[in-house]
Amino acid sequence: MRRIFIAGNWKMHLEGRQAAELARQVARQAEDCPGIDVAVAPVFTAIVPVVEALAGSPVMVAGQNCHWEEKGAFTGEVAAEMLAAAGCRLVIIGHSERRQYFGETDETVGRKLQAALRAGLLPIVCLGESLEQRDAGQTLDVVGRQLEAVLAVFPSEQASRLTIAYEPVWAIGTGRTATAGQAQEVHTFIRQRLADKFGPDPAGQVRIQYGGSVKPGNAAELLSQPDIDGALVGGASLQADSFGAIMRAAESQGA
Ligand code: 13P
Repeated sequence: MRRIFIAGNWKMHLEGRQAAELARQVARQAEDCPGIDVAVAPVFTAIVPVVEALAGSPVMVAGQNCHWEEKGAFTGEVAAEMLAAAGCRLVIIGHSERRQYFGETDETVGRKLQAALRAGLLPIVCLGESLEQRDAGQTLDVVGRQLEAVLAVFPSEQASRLTIAYEPVWAIGTGRTATAGQAQEVHTFIRQRLADKFGPDPAGQVRIQYGGSVKPGNAAELLSQPDIDGALVGGASLQADSFGAIMRAAESQGA
């Protein structure tokens, strides 16, 4: 059985003190949700205060990005090993905002994924189509191509360490969520591709999160789908109340 995994992507919000305060509130809410996994992804400068605020809590910390090299002349970048040393257990790779605004490609996603594994981090790899691509009927082609870059470098024996986040770009920050059926269709496709590559047992261990305007009001329905194993939450993760409500919806699904 896959444990439901709820992660909050705080994007470029909350400096250290604010982030640590929210992390403490999330940790308190997580006490009511022992059946699920929870993580938060603060900005780089808030990682250490958040790790300290979460000491003794099962809530994990994720970086929002990493570089593929271990060190070197890469001004402004942070290595996967450095995230691990700061106390991160996870790293988000290939978020659509990185692909859209910072030139990230399937190739860099593959390199970052290898770096994350080398550093002992659990990767959350984001995939998803734009509205134009969905309207043109290209959703599965686009997601399949993005997934191929992951499968090309990911060893099947580590499948249980992998999380895929399906985040349709048109649903991110727009208030427009994919319906549970639309999301499940893509998740089934992803699971099938994973099975083709890894075999059914390892594929069954990979958690596939949905992301894009997940809110307390739609979380339960999305999470009730057989291949939706969690959520990557943006806006609603910035308030302890709404993130807590999503965590509790997940906990009641998992129970
Ligand atoms: P929203 O939940 O704000 O739509 O953001 C989703 C997202 O991009 C999470 O990574």
